[in-house]
Amino acid sequence: MIATAPLALKALLDSAADLAVFAYEDGAVTGAKSLPAKDRALLAEKLKEEGFKGGAKDVARVDLPLFGKPRRVFAVGLGKRKSAGAEAFRRAAGILLGAVRGKRETLAILCSENISALAEGLTLASYKYEEYKKGDEDKLKNLYLVVQDPAARASTEKTLAKVALYAEAVGLARDLVNRGPSDKTPQSLADLAETFSGAGVTVAVIHKAQAEEMGMGAFLGVARGSSQPPVMVHMVYTPKAKTKKRVALVGKGVTFDSGGLSIKPAASMEEMKCDMAGAAAVIAVFKVIARLQPKAEVHGIFAATYNMPGPDAFKPGDVLKAMNGKTIEVWNTDAEGRLILADALCLAAKQEPQIILDMATLTGAVVFALGSKVAGLMGNDRRAVQSVIAAGKRADEPYCELPLVEDYKEHIKGNIAELLNISKVRGEAGAIIAGLFLQEFVGAVPWAHLDIAGTAFSGGDYNSYTPKGATGAPVRTLLEWLEAL
Ligand code: BES
Ligand code: MN
Ligand code: ZN
Repeated sequence: MIATAPLALKALLDSAADLAVFAYEDGAVTGAKSLPAKDRALLAEKLKEEGFKGGAKDVARVDLPLFGKPRRVFAVGLGKRKSAGAEAFRRAAGILLGAVRGKRETLAILCSENISALAEGLTLASYKYEEYKKGDEDKLKNLYLVVQDPAARASTEKTLAKVALYAEAVGLARDLVNRGPSDKTPQSLADLAETFSGAGVTVAVIHKAQAEEMGMGAFLGVARGSSQPPVMVHMVYTPKAKTKKRVALVGKGVTFDSGGLSIKPAASMEEMKCDMAGAAAVIAVFKVIARLQPKAEVHGIFAATYNMPGPDAFKPGDVLKAMNGKTIEVWNTDAEGRLILADALCLAAKQEPQIILDMATLTGAVVFALGSKVAGLMGNDRRAVQSVIAAGKRADEPYCELPLVEDYKEHIKGNIAELLNISKVRGEAGAIIAGLFLQEFVGAVPWAHLDIAGTAFSGGDYNSYTPKGATGAPVRTLLEWLEAL
């Protein structure tokens, strides 16, 4: 990914860099205050001649002498000023990157507002998934944000460093989710997690035998159909300053979901390499957590396994027992995410955190309900739910809360065991049913559940800064959330 660097206005005068500006629909160019009035007028006139109106997605290219040199200037629209927040800047930045990456080598951007969103949009848009083939080489090598006020240099540098950290985490989550399913075995994810151990971070890998001793029967039940052994990974970040705050992040890491014996139809299986996106988000957070330095102790737990229909696969009708002793009647082996999370949540609750957040590509139902741009959110605690919504607003990763309807608990009461893993009432409230099931394993710990089945992976156009495939959601939400603790 391309990083943005600050550039002093003075240095711009010495360089022949191309320029970029952003403009609102009312014609006002943001960040152009460093241009002399006559240059500003000339630029506005040229843009007008090009028919550029500043609408969202509008792009124009004009040539004119600015800052003492003939330059090419790219302009990107932000839309109406009133509705243009951080997300408009992220998207405009993505459009700018698309317009210049193959054409120009050095670009200096004039901007005075939403610098963080702008840099984030540029960097996230420049992501390419290259583990199996190299993409087209970008011509763009140097990307500068012009710091017009020398006093703002330090704060800009800080902003850009934070953006780079966020982008590094998003990039890792995208890489892991995009990777072919046979190339991301549970053990390989554990190996990656172990590389994060060091200052402030410890990593414990719970293998099958230990998981058995710990009573993780639900998790191990799902793993039985695969020849690849499962792992439960428990990472802990301890801040330098002593604190009583403790939170846990829990991720679903189904490294491929075939459905198991309740096998999926071929078309539904195509994207099931994305079924470890929750775990990928937790892993991504831990890659950067020692540098992010949140103020709380953070536990990162992920349960990783394939869901396969191998010879010893668990079967519809089987009864599994989770770590908290609850028994579960399996009616459908494709509702496996809630089973592995059951034990991961028990392990998280045992750490006695003040909040647990879990993230999982859990249900097709949430995709029906909310589509690919909004994730489902449920929880047993107002503060936990609200804090995720607020962090999601800062990241522009939206959430919609769904109610954990008490009455529906009836639908997952088992016949021969305590719980069923799917609802007796078919085709209704699937995302809520899954949430109600998970709730059985957090005890009294405040908890929120993010159903990211729609948002973690995109089959097509998502937005200008999110290429097709893994989106990296909900990594930025989690980083924002941790920073606010
Ligand atoms: N991994 C899937 C959910 C999913 C669907 C993720 C679409 C990403 C995109 C999950 O394990 C699953 O199969 N859920 C079933 C549950 C059903 C059997 C109750 C579903 O949603 O169909
Ligand atoms: Mn499934
Ligand atoms: Zn699944």
